[in-house]
Amino acid sequence: MCKKIGILTAGGDSPGLNAAIRGVGKAASGYYAMEVVGFRDGFTGLVENRTQILDESALSGILTLGGTILGTSRDKPHKMVYQGKKQDMTDQIVENYHAHQLDALVCLGGGGTQKNALQLMQKGLNIITLPKTIDNDVAYTDATFGFDTALGIATDAIDRLHSTAHSHHRIIVVEIMGNCAGWLALGAGIAGGADVILLPEIPYEIETVANAILQRVAGGKSFSIVAVAEGAMPVSSAQALEKTASQLAQAEMSKDKKRAKQARSILNAINQEHVNHTVKLASQLEHLTGLESRVTILGYLQRGGTPSAADRLLATRLGTACVDLIEQRTFGVMVAAQGDRAVPVPLSQVAGQKRLVPNDHPWVVSAQRVGTCFGAPCH
Ligand code: F6P
Repeated sequence: MCKKIGILTAGGDSPGLNAAIRGVGKAASGYYAMEVVGFRDGFTGLVENRTQILDESALSGILTLGGTILGTSRDKPHKMVYQGKKQDMTDQIVENYHAHQLDALVCLGGGGTQKNALQLMQKGLNIITLPKTIDNDVAYTDATFGFDTALGIATDAIDRLHSTAHSHHRIIVVEIMGNCAGWLALGAGIAGGADVILLPEIPYEIETVANAILQRVAGGKSFSIVAVAEGAMPVSSAQALEKTASQLAQAEMSKDKKRAKQARSILNAINQEHVNHTVKLASQLEHLTGLESRVTILGYLQRGGTPSAADRLLATRLGTACVDLIEQRTFGVMVAAQGDRAVPVPLSQVAGQKRLVPNDHPWVVSAQRVGTCFGAPCH
C-alpha cells in the first residue's frame, strides 16, 4: 500500500497544471488516504527540499487557475545550477526522496520532464508522469493538457487579426508557439482560417507563400493571414540543419571532438539566423508582394490564464488515473490519454520521442482541401 507521494511540476507552465495537481491530490488524499507533499519549482525544489503542503484547503479552488501553484523551472536533475555551479544533483534528489519516505513521485511535464523522470526511475525511484505542454508534442498520448487552452487563445487572436488585416489591406504574420512542433499553429491556423500556415515539419519556399498571397489579391482578397509556427523555417535552413545535425551525430559517435565542435558552431549559427525569423519573413513578403505587412507574436499569452473545459477535464482524468496506477504500484510510466482511456506507457518508450505533425496528417489534408497554402507543394 502506498502511504505518501510527492508531486512536482517541471518545464514551461501550462494551463491545466493546477487541475492535474488537484486531481492527483484529491484522489490520493481524499479517496486513497495517502499523504501528499508538493515540491516547489520543479526538480530544484526536490534538491533544495522546498516543499508545500497539499492538504484539502491547498487543493481547493485551484481547478480554474492558470499556471501552477507549485511553481516550475526548467532545471534538470543531472545538470542543475546549484550554489552557482552546474552539477549533477541526482543523488541529492534520491536522498531527499527517501528522507521524505515517499512511495512515489509524480512529475508533471513535457518532453524534457519525461527524460528527466526516466533517469530518476533508473536510480530506483518510483516515478510516474503526466503529459503537459501547450505544444502537444509528447509521444504516445492523443493530447497533452494545456494544448486546448492555447489553441483557443491563438484561434481567438487570428479571428481578431482578420478584421484589422482586412480593413488595412495588409498581410499579418502571426507567430504561434509550439517549439519544434507545428500542432498549435496548424490547429489555430485551420480554426482561425489562416490563408497560409507554416510549420516546422513542412519547410517552406518564400516564393510559394508570396505567390499564394498574390493569387488571393488577383481573386479580389487584398489581405492575408499567415500563421507561422515559431519553429518553421525555409527549405534551405531546414536542409542545412538536418545535414549539420547528422554530421554532429556522426562526430559524436566516432568521438571526433574537433568535427563535433565545428558542427555545434554551425548549428549555433543556424539557430542564430532563426532569431527574429517571423519579422524577416514579413519583410520578405512585403517586398515580394508589394502589400504592407505586420507581425504579431503571441508569445506567453498562449500559456497564461484560465484553462479551457477540455484541459480541466483531461488533467482531472489523467491526474486521478495516475493515483489509481500508484495504488496498483505501477511505476516507471507516463499516464497517456488514448481515446477515452488513461493508459500507462513505459517512460523508456516515451523519453526522447517527439510527436510531430506528419505531412499527411488529416488536419494538413483538410487545410489543403480548403485552399490553405503550406509554402510547399501538396503532399
Ligand atoms: O514548451 C512550451 C513552450 O511555451 C514552447 O512553445 C516555447 O518554445 C517554450 O516553451 C518557451 O520556453 P520558455 O518558457 O523557457 O521561454
